[in-house]
Amino acid sequence: MSSPLFDAAKKNAATAYKLDQGGQAQQAVRYYVSAAEQLQKLINFTDDPNMKNLYYQKAMEYILRVKEIRGIVGPSEGRASSSSSTASSTETEDEISGEISSVIVREKPNVKWDDVAGMEGAKRALREAIILPMTRPDLFKGARKPWKGVLMFGPPGCGKTYLCKAVASEVDSTFFSVSAANLISKWLGESEKLVKELYERAVEESPSIIFFDEIDSLAGARGGSSEGEAMRRVKTQLLQAVEGFGTGEELLVTVGATNTPWDIDAAMRRRFERRVYVTLPTIEARQKMFQIHTRGVNLDSDLKFEELAKYTAGYSAADIALLCREALMMPIRELDADGALKDATIQPRTPNFNDFLKSMESIKPSVSPDELTRFEQWKDQFGG
Ligand SMILES: Nc1ncnc2c1ncn2[C@@H]1O[C@H](COP(=O)(O)OP(=O)(O)OP(=O)(O)O)[C@@H](O)[C@H]1O
Ligand SMILES: [Mg+2]
Repeated sequence: MSSPLFDAAKKNAATAYKLDQGGQAQQAVRYYVSAAEQLQKLINFTDDPNMKNLYYQKAMEYILRVKEIRGIVGPSEGRASSSSSTASSTETEDEISGEISSVIVREKPNVKWDDVAGMEGAKRALREAIILPMTRPDLFKGARKPWKGVLMFGPPGCGKTYLCKAVASEVDSTFFSVSAANLISKWLGESEKLVKELYERAVEESPSIIFFDEIDSLAGARGGSSEGEAMRRVKTQLLQAVEGFGTGEELLVTVGATNTPWDIDAAMRRRFERRVYVTLPTIEARQKMFQIHTRGVNLDSDLKFEELAKYTAGYSAADIALLCREALMMPIRELDADGALKDATIQPRTPNFNDFLKSMESIKPSVSPDELTRFEQWKDQFGG
């Protein structure tokens, strides 16, 4: 039953207890929160309903204790005695609003549409599903309705998050980015409220894009009865919210991203009508990725992006980004080994083809063919 994660959770819980018992409740908070987060991860890793339940109960217990501590010795301590029950509930609300920022990022991403190499199919789908309805709302009246939910799925490191950021920087909209896993682990009991509040804000500030990364951690199909009441509630809330929040007239689109689409249950899948498959880059896309990820560095004249693209079949976008960083470091590493970098006048040689070949020895494709097949099958069955 022992795993590094379980051991870590146990250790954090033990530390929290000890501090708490020893009168250092405030110091204990951090450890309770870590333990609760780790337990929440464990819930996703185990299939055993009893264990899921146990982890859930424990996590809830720690979170409740954290709330107690915050209520008793938190920042509101001075006012605690005079505050009525209404006031304290407002405080909790304020706290939620404050904490919304820890899992929900409101940002203007700076990935440009032109910095997205390849992915023509995915780009077109997102143009139709998000960019056009937001830039030309007049065209999407009556029966020609924009999609409310878009699901981006595909193997890790292929550009789901990256592409969504590019979409958001392309349209003049508010972009809310939520890590579903964080939402659940940090705000287990509260996440339902957070989701509601998030959509209320998104309506107020529409047009809005709400990006739920790792949506599978919210929409898991295998929950069953062990899923826990809080999980079920937040899921229901999200299902309703995606379908229509506010008057339904607002421009509001929810984009979910996942690299385990098979974990998403049917109800959730239905809400994400438009499905976009984001997969390994083609040879042309890889060529452009090499160009993008070596930008701003002088390269050796023997280096041909076209050649590099040929050598890297099966590499994901993230693999290529990593490969470039590694190869670009090589000339510097060489000089550093000689101690030559101390001399500020010495310049490293330009990175060459060989540096890239060498880096390919240590950086291999991270997506296996079997994994890829699984995505293709899901796509054939559910579209994208
Ligand atoms: N189309 C692209 N053009 C150029 N670079 C890209 C592209 N797609 C992804 N990248 C690079 O790959 C990195 C990883 O992409 P990203 O984080 O979007 O993958 P992901 O599909 O969201 O992965 P995960 O499933 O692990 O969240 C990006 O930070 C970016 O540097
Ligand atoms: Mg991602």
